[in-house]
Amino acid sequence: MSTAIAEAASNAAVRQIIEARRAMSGALLPILHDIQHALGHIPADAVPMVAEALNLSRAEVHGVISYYHHFREQPAGRHVVQICRAEACQARGADALVAHAKSALDCDFHHTSADGAVTLEPVYCLGHCAVGPNIAIDDALFARVSPQRFDMLVAGKRGEQ
Ligand code: FES
Repeated sequence: MSTAIAEAASNAAVRQIIEARRAMSGALLPILHDIQHALGHIPADAVPMVAEALNLSRAEVHGVISYYHHFREQPAGRHVVQICRAEACQARGADALVAHAKSALDCDFHHTSADGAVTLEPVYCLGHCAVGPNIAIDDALFARVSPQRFDMLVAGKRGEQ
C-alpha cells in the first residue's frame, strides 16, 4: 500500500472511531485506546483530529498520550516482548533479566530494537508469580526466563519475522 493510501485509510479509521465515541463523557481515553487497538499506535495525524472533535487543544491530547506509556506514537516492532516488573518476578531475578534484555536489544523500555524486530515493554504481573521471572512475547507467556533463554526466545522470534 502506498504511503498516501495508508494515511488515508488510517485517517478514515480514526474518523470512524471518533464519531463512534465522541458523544460519550470522558471520550478521550476510549478514543485513544480504540485508535491504538485499530492501528497499533496513535499516528501524529490523529492528534489534531481528536483535539478538534473533543474541543481540546493538541497539547492536551498529546499530553495524555505521552503520560500513559501504554500509548505508542510510533508503530511497535514485529514482536512485543513484555517483561514482568512486579514484586514476585523481581524477587526471582527479573532485574538482571531486564538489564540483559535492554543490553541485548540495545533499547530501553517503550522502544524498539534497531532492526524493528522487537519492542520492549514492562508489564506488572502476568499472573504466574510462582514461576518467574516471566515474560510475554506477543500473546505467548514464558516462565523461568533466564538471560540465556531470553536470547533463544528472541532469536526464534526474529527468525519467524
Ligand atoms: S509478579 Fe511476575 S507474574 Fe506476577
